Amino acid sequence: METEQTLILIKPDGVQRGLVGEIVARYERKGLKLVGMKLVQLPLTTAEALYAVHHRGKPFYETLIRFITAAPIVALAVEGRNAIELVRTLNGATNPLAAQPGSIRGDFSLNVTHNVVHASDSPENAQRELGILFAPQELYAYQRIDEAVLYPQ
Ligand code: RTP
Ligand code: MG
Repeated sequence: METEQTLILIKPDGVQRGLVGEIVARYERKGLKLVGMKLVQLPLTTAEALYAVHHRGKPFYETLIRFITAAPIVALAVEGRNAIELVRTLNGATNPLAAQPGSIRGDFSLNVTHNVVHASDSPENAQRELGILFAPQELYAYQRIDEAVLYPQ
């Protein structure tokens, strides 16, 4: 099992609805380690750097860029074994009709654009997206005191 880092964004709807604490708590309680965190309103160029590679040309691209740049987001870098897949499971399906209750989108979202959170979907994208949001010195290395219990030998 690989220790991975991944990028999460709490999108403008999550920030504006006062869900930041609730959402961050879910990743923390699961056992993921927060290694970077910031509140930031994304410039257009940053939003395009994040999304253009995979989504430019799709019917929802312009809506997505307008939405993600309209108000501040919270960027989180988290670390843990299989963190990339784990976070996407905690986030739930993109379509709120398919997102399971208990997942973040299943519990908090009704709309496919305003779906509260983003997470990287592969090791390559995680590295690329973390590099867009965080400088190397903004990602911290430290130990959680419960690591021996979270990851028994
Ligand atoms: P994310 O990148 O935000 O973690 O979401 P995802 O992998 O589950 O979904 P993705 O296919 O990467 O889409 C990125 C974001 O674009 C918006 N979207 N709108 N109207 C639509 O059909 C549609 N499809 C996607 C969502 O905000 C989605 O999270
Ligand atoms: Mg995606």
